[in-house]
Amino acid sequence: NQRPRALSGIQPTASSFHLGNYLGAIRQYVAMQDTHDAFYMVVDLHAITVPQDPATLRANTRLAAAQLLAAGLDPDRCTLFVQSHVPEHAQLGWLMNCITGFGEASRMTQFKDKSARQGADSATVGLFTYPILQVADILLYQADAVPVGEDQRQHIELTRDLAERFNGRFGATFNLPAAHIVREVAKIYDLQDPTAKMSKSAASAKGLVNLLDEPKVSAKKFRSAVTDTDTVVRYDETEKPGISNLLRIHSALTGTGIAELEEQYAGKGYGALKTDLAEIFVAWVTPFRERTQEYLGDPETLDSLLAKGAEKARAVAAETLALAYDRMGF
Ligand code: ADP
Ligand code: NA
Repeated sequence: NQRPRALSGIQPTASSFHLGNYLGAIRQYVAMQDTHDAFYMVVDLHAITVPQDPATLRANTRLAAAQLLAAGLDPDRCTLFVQSHVPEHAQLGWLMNCITGFGEASRMTQFKDKSARQGADSATVGLFTYPILQVADILLYQADAVPVGEDQRQHIELTRDLAERFNGRFGATFNLPAAHIVREVAKIYDLQDPTAKMSKSAASAKGLVNLLDEPKVSAKKFRSAVTDTDTVVRYDETEKPGISNLLRIHSALTGTGIAELEEQYAGKGYGALKTDLAEIFVAWVTPFRERTQEYLGDPETLDSLLAKGAEKARAVAAETLALAYDRMGF
């Protein structure tokens, strides 16, 4: 396989992905199946860096996999698996922990943000070393490209630093990956607070569009999206963040350019845009929900797809781990 290798993971920490996850990440995963030798995983080991109820974690892991398949990940064109099914992640994670400086790990800003939110004393050591497990995730597959959001850039830098350090100390072992930050990626904002990123951790779910919610509920959220007091449909992130967010979503779901949309809605007002978008979303999400339910309704098939994915992933991961063990003196 001559294609560059891509690796990305998504956490099973909610019972549904939201529209931001889909347009900002999952859609790129689907596209990269055709340009890359792509490995995608549901990162349940990362999820337990904050407390998880076991039954919920198990259910959410299946739900995440079912939604990824429903969104278009094809086990024949990519390797889709669950992180904990491949024990090499935890194993290489330990080796990488042992070559990371404490100060170096302390500089990871995401830990500072997340632990501040939890209270420094209740944050786990696992949350602290999370980026180092992520380093192992990437290096195990000798990944070239890691499709991530801007917020992950620092972790990819750490990956390169640790790979170089390991290679320098113990001999060439790991490929140095590059962040694959898709610039034109849709940044989706909350429908009720269009200055805040749409997020499962939003204080209120009113502006959060969950893919597995009843389509009627989401349609209503689009129709009552917060905009501004003007009436002209024009893309302007500063003056019209709400309308710009709706235009981005419309454009992403229909493939229509923003300028063309501005023309299409000239003289029509905000109501028309909101109503259309509600319908467009429902038309897209309805078959997505059906496909998700099909995978969930047939757990044997789902589990067997994931078992096959883990087997494919392990073949690569085991080879890298064996080399790293050997290099380090085991
Ligand atoms: P959340 O912010 O809801 O906790 P995650 O951090 O689990 O979501 O993100 C999973 C993936 O979805 C990441 O690749 C992230 O960049 C992407 N993502 C999350 N929220 C958005 C958003 N509002 N717009 C675009 N991409 C997003
Ligand atoms: Na998040």
